[in-house]
Amino acid sequence: MVVFDLDSSWLAACLRLDQRALNGLWTVEQWSRELEEPRRLCLGLRDGQQLLGLACGWLVADELHVTAVAVDPSARRAGHGRRLLLELLQRALLEGAAHATLEVASDNEAAIGLYGSGGFHTAGTRSGYYRDGRDALIQWCRLRST
Ligand SMILES: CC(C)(COP(=O)(O)OP(=O)(O)OC[C@H]1O[C@@H](n2cnc3c(N)ncnc32)[C@H](O)[C@@H]1OP(=O)(O)O)[C@@H](O)C(=O)NCCC(=O)NCCS
Repeated sequence: MVVFDLDSSWLAACLRLDQRALNGLWTVEQWSRELEEPRRLCLGLRDGQQLLGLACGWLVADELHVTAVAVDPSARRAGHGRRLLLELLQRALLEGAAHATLEVASDNEAAIGLYGSGGFHTAGTRSGYYRDGRDALIQWCRLRST
């Protein structure tokens, strides 16, 4: 298993994984932007040419905004999500980020467990943030002290 930088040659694989793991979070246009814009970090985890996981975020000033972390249903609970998240945070730190932030659905136990194990804590709630009415937890993680 190799962690690597995703680029636009992986667009179709990202869309497939999005369908399998994220319920179709982004359109093809949104994925193209995610893979092409320079201030976005997008890591993949592959087994040969099969994309099994991804972790993406935007660098905004000294913050990393984590936008998606996903592992194929066939490969979960093997530490891949944590590996991807920690590599994304490490990469953001190297790019100058001091903090990371994200929103996570308040009933997404797997993701809340993952982010907690990666050092995130909840700082607030956005009520009815998602289209289906669920609340979002706003979480932060400090990457460096200054
Ligand atoms: C969230 C997700 C990425 C976790 O990936 P994963 O590879 O299975 O996670 P890991 O094996 O690295 O687990 C790391 C930690 O997360 C937590 N965790 C993972 N899956 C969990 C579950 N089903 N229930 C509770 N905690 C869970 C645990 O704390 C785990 O540590 P442990 O195994 O030492 O107990 C995966 O479940 C997924 O793709 N979910 C759908 C997409 C999603 O909701 N993404 C987040 C919002 S964008």
